[in-house]
Amino acid sequence: MKHLSVVAAMALLAACSQQDQAPAAPAQAGKGPPPPPPYQMRPEAPTGNRLAGGDGKTLFEYHCGYCHLTGGMGTNLLTKQRMMAGETPEKGLLANRADLTADYVKQVVRMGKNAMPPQTRVDLTDAELDAVAIYLGRAK
Ligand code: HEC
Repeated sequence: MKHLSVVAAMALLAACSQQDQAPAAPAQAGKGPPPPPPYQMRPEAPTGNRLAGGDGKTLFEYHCGYCHLTGGMGTNLLTKQRMMAGETPEKGLLANRADLTADYVKQVVRMGKNAMPPQTRVDLTDAELDAVAIYLGRAK
């Protein structure tokens, strides 16, 4: 009798778990979703040491690149700002700026600025931000 109830319970469980399964996705004929447009793509995740002493350029391209490389919305807005200030369009890329200090970069990243949302320690750690700020902050 005991065995019978165990078997019944297992059958019930099996029936329930089958019902819990999500409905099958519509057949895609082997095709995944289309790739995102280039301005939404991130470069490859950096490998190796991403913490203190990590390569600031790689970390910048990974964490900030989808807005601050060519075609990013940060680059587009800053290009307009720089040109209105009488500079060349290349200055829209943060990597081409010589007037940023490391402290300013850190402040903008953690506090945000106008259309730039603040980047938290989940987005990039303090050690990663230090490396990025050293890379961008050429002005003393
Ligand atoms: C979601 C897009 C986005 C991301 C991600 C982003 N930014 Fe920005 N950033 C912007 C925009 C937009 C601006 C221009 C803000 C404005 O209108 O003044 C900006 C401005 C800045 C400025 C100020 C430049 C100036 O002339 O004052 C710095 C410095 C900066 N970003 C650094 C970074 C760094 C470093 C990262 C990565 C940790 C980063 N940003 C990530 C969108 C972004």
